[in-house]
Amino acid sequence: MKVDVLLGLQWGDEGKGKVVDVLTPRYDVVARFQGGPNAGHTLEFEGQKYVLRSIPSGIFQGDKINIIGNGVVLDPALFKAEAEALEASGHNLKERLHISKKAHLILPTHRLLDAAYEAAKGDAKVGTTGKGIGPTYTDKVSRNGLRVGDILHDFDKKYAAAKARHEQILKSLNYSYDLSELEKAWFEGIEYLKQFQLVDSEHEINFLLASGKSVLCEGAQGTMLDVDFGSYPFVTSSNTICAGACTGLGVAPNKIGDVYGIFKAYCTRVGAGPFPTELFDETGDKIGALGHEFGAVTGRKRRCGWIDLVALKYAVMIDGVTKLIMMKSDVLDSFETIKACVAYKVDGEEIDYFPFDIKEGNLEPVYVELPGWKTDMTKMQSEDEFPEEFNAYLSFLEEQLGVPIKIVSVGPDREQTIERYLEDD
Ligand code: GDP
Ligand code: IMO
Ligand code: MG
Repeated sequence: MKVDVLLGLQWGDEGKGKVVDVLTPRYDVVARFQGGPNAGHTLEFEGQKYVLRSIPSGIFQGDKINIIGNGVVLDPALFKAEAEALEASGHNLKERLHISKKAHLILPTHRLLDAAYEAAKGDAKVGTTGKGIGPTYTDKVSRNGLRVGDILHDFDKKYAAAKARHEQILKSLNYSYDLSELEKAWFEGIEYLKQFQLVDSEHEINFLLASGKSVLCEGAQGTMLDVDFGSYPFVTSSNTICAGACTGLGVAPNKIGDVYGIFKAYCTRVGAGPFPTELFDETGDKIGALGHEFGAVTGRKRRCGWIDLVALKYAVMIDGVTKLIMMKSDVLDSFETIKACVAYKVDGEEIDYFPFDIKEGNLEPVYVELPGWKTDMTKMQSEDEFPEEFNAYLSFLEEQLGVPIKIVSVGPDREQTIERYLEDD
C-alpha cells in the first residue's frame, strides 16, 4: 500500500482538519508529519466544534490509529490539555494515539525564546504563534534537541542542560521571565505523556503499509509557509510540503500515492509577510466576516484576499498534487463577481511565478474577473445542484491548475462536503 498525503496549498487554515475527518473512514491510519501546536485544525459535526493542535484529525472516526510522527514538535503541557479535553468528552485516546519517540519536545524555554526573538526583531517580526516552534526546530537541526523518547531515561539531566543553555540566550537578549508556572504544567505534561504508546513510528507505519493498511498523512500549515519554498523568512520552521511526509514519518518517496491539495476559494494569511492579493477594502472585510477568518490558535484576525493562482500553481508543482479540494466556496455565495489572480506585475513587468523577494509596493496582482453564482450553496448535497457560474469557476481553476477538483466544501460541518465524480473516475 501507499500513503496518501493531504496538505494545505496556501498560507494555512485552508480547512485541513475538516477534510481529514471526512476522509478518515476510507483509511486505517491517520498520521501528522510536521508542525506542532502552531496548528489549529477545526472540525464540526453533530453540532459540536473541536480544534485540534497536535492530535491528528482522524481521532473522531471510530477505532482508527492516529500517529504523531517524528517530524512533529510536541509541547507536553499543551498536549495534555488537548488530550484531556477530548477524553473528558468521551473519546478514548490512549489505545489509538501513538506518538513517535523521535518527535522533538517543545520546552518552556523554547516558548520564551520564541517571544524573545520576535521582540528582538521589532518591526521585522514574523508574527509567530508564540508556541516555540522555531526555537525547537532550531535545536533539532543543531543537534541540541530533546525527543519524546528521552523522557524515559535520565531525563532530568538532559532537561537541565537544555534549560541552562536557553537561559543563557534569554539573558543575552535581556528577556525577563518567570518559568515556574510554565515548568510546572510542562512536567505534569511529561508524566501524562508516559501513559501513551511511545513508538518507533517509522517502523509502525511501514509495517502497517506492508500488511495492507491504508494511511492518510495530515499536513499542518500550508505550502507557502514551508521553510524552503514559502515566503521566507515569513514562514514556519518545518517542511510543510509533500516531501515533509517522507522525512516526518519515515515513508519512502516511492510510497506516496495520492496527494490531496486543499485551498480556499479565496485566500487568507495570518501573521506578517507578503500576500500579493491581500484586500484592504470592504471586499476583504466582507470575506473575513462571512468566512469567520480569525485564527483557531491565537484568535488573530486573518488577512483576506482573492485567490492567487500564481502561488497555487507553484504549490501544486512543489507538492505533486493529484487531487484538489476547494474549501469555503460558500463564503463567496453572495458575490456579484469573483476575481482570480493569474499573474503579477513587478515594476511594470508581468510575471507568472512567485518572485524571490517581494518588496512592499512593487507588486501588483493581475486579475481575471468571473461572474459570481449568487446562490446559497450551503445545503446542497450533490454536484448536480451546482449553479452554472460555479461550475464555470471550477472549470477555470482546473484549467489554470491542471489538476481536477474532487471535493468541494460548502460549509464547516462534516456533512457540508460534496464529492465530484469526474469522467476519469
Ligand atoms: P485548518 O488549519 O486547515 O484545519 O483550518 P482551520 O480550522 O484553521 O480554519 C478553517 C475554518 O473554516 C474553520 O473554522 C472551519 O470550521 C471552517 N471551514 C472549513 N470548511 C469550511 C467551508 O467549506 N465553509 C465555511 N464557511 N467554513 C469552513
Ligand atoms: P494550520 O495548520 C496559519 C504562521 C504564523 C506565522 C508563521 C510562523 O492551522 O493551518 P510559527 O508559530 O509556526 O513559528 O509561525 O506561520 N502559522 C500559521 N498560519 N495556519 C497555521 O497552521 C499556522 N502555523 C503557523 O502565523 O506567520
Ligand atoms: Mg488552522
